[in-house]
Amino acid sequence: MFDVLTPLPADPILGLSAAYKKDTNPNKIDLGVGVYKDEQGRTPIMNTVQKAQRILLETEDSKTYIPQQGVQGFIDGMLQLILGQGHKALIENRIAAVQAPGGCGALRILAELIKRCDGDTTVWVSDPTWANHIPLIGNAGLNIKTYPYFDKTSASIKFDEMADCLKQVKKGDVVLLHGCCHNPTGADLNKDQWNTVLEIAQQTGFIPFVDIAYQGFGDSLEEDVYGVRLLANSLPEVIIAASCSKNFGLYRERTGLAVMITETPAIASITQTQIQSIARGIYSMPPSYGGALVDIILNTPDLKTEWMQEVTDMRERMKNLRKLLVDKLAEKGASKDFSFVNQQKGMFSFLCISPEQVEKLVNEHSVYLVSSSRVNIAGISLSNVDNLAEALVKVL
Ligand code: LMR
Repeated sequence: MFDVLTPLPADPILGLSAAYKKDTNPNKIDLGVGVYKDEQGRTPIMNTVQKAQRILLETEDSKTYIPQQGVQGFIDGMLQLILGQGHKALIENRIAAVQAPGGCGALRILAELIKRCDGDTTVWVSDPTWANHIPLIGNAGLNIKTYPYFDKTSASIKFDEMADCLKQVKKGDVVLLHGCCHNPTGADLNKDQWNTVLEIAQQTGFIPFVDIAYQGFGDSLEEDVYGVRLLANSLPEVIIAASCSKNFGLYRERTGLAVMITETPAIASITQTQIQSIARGIYSMPPSYGGALVDIILNTPDLKTEWMQEVTDMRERMKNLRKLLVDKLAEKGASKDFSFVNQQKGMFSFLCISPEQVEKLVNEHSVYLVSSSRVNIAGISLSNVDNLAEALVKVL
């Protein structure tokens, strides 16, 4: 049976880690996969996660299955984190939600749910978007179309074109928006632009699907959810996929949340049964561990405060690294102005260089980045920034 299969190329993002590991250059730099790194290039377990692990070790008394929807304290804590305390949709019981295996698991089951509602739905994604959005949503059998988002020449969002395109989206179609820290560009909508997106959604009747995987990495835990809260406050239906991979550093624990804001409590209950049946048909039940840790952190006031500080520290470090890179590039006489990197937010930046220049960075300088020119800002350090800036100046 398997002899009919043909080999596939490495994943455009994950494949970079394998290539980086094989490289014997002692000065190699990994700006590929989006994981947070400290100055030593390590991805440490966050202090609050370590504390929660110790608590869990003492208190967990069974490995029996958790409820189908997941750990309730996790779901409630995450909903509060994303939507804010006392959110209208929460009070009105218009929310269905399940813990999912990572943000990816959430995206996938939500795509399956959209397919169940209407198989002809088109999901509109930004051009560009995170590479894995396409298989996660497309493999559910949904149509995918793109809306204009980022202009590489000016290194900014082409909002007028985006808005014109969204005005043509038909009622019931779904528009995937990045809640904050746009992956791959790092270019986020400002408040006015979110307000306009809301107005267009109200006029056309499209349904926003917000992927929020980097809450806290942009401006703050609160400011990063401006858009999703605005939409959730004002529209009858909003879909949300959230991830705890980055802001809790729980990458391998696959911890995410799928949220459906519906028009009425009755529809929310029905939707809850449907999403659980979708999950049951794919992976049955979510893993418990990551959700249990987040539950402990978000529902223990001291730990929550400490966790918020840890997120702030990561965010500030990445902001400083952006500045460091931009300054170094200017100092080394780069022929291109990279100051736009300072305006971008979160873990990623688009360097807005060509695929050929990226290829040279990888092959001639052992600097690993996604071919679109996306770099993981957290991969920069005081010890590699000079080499990185020099390599960039050479390939420009
Ligand atoms: C990324 O964008 O690099 C991360 O979200 C990891 C992944 O799965 O692609």
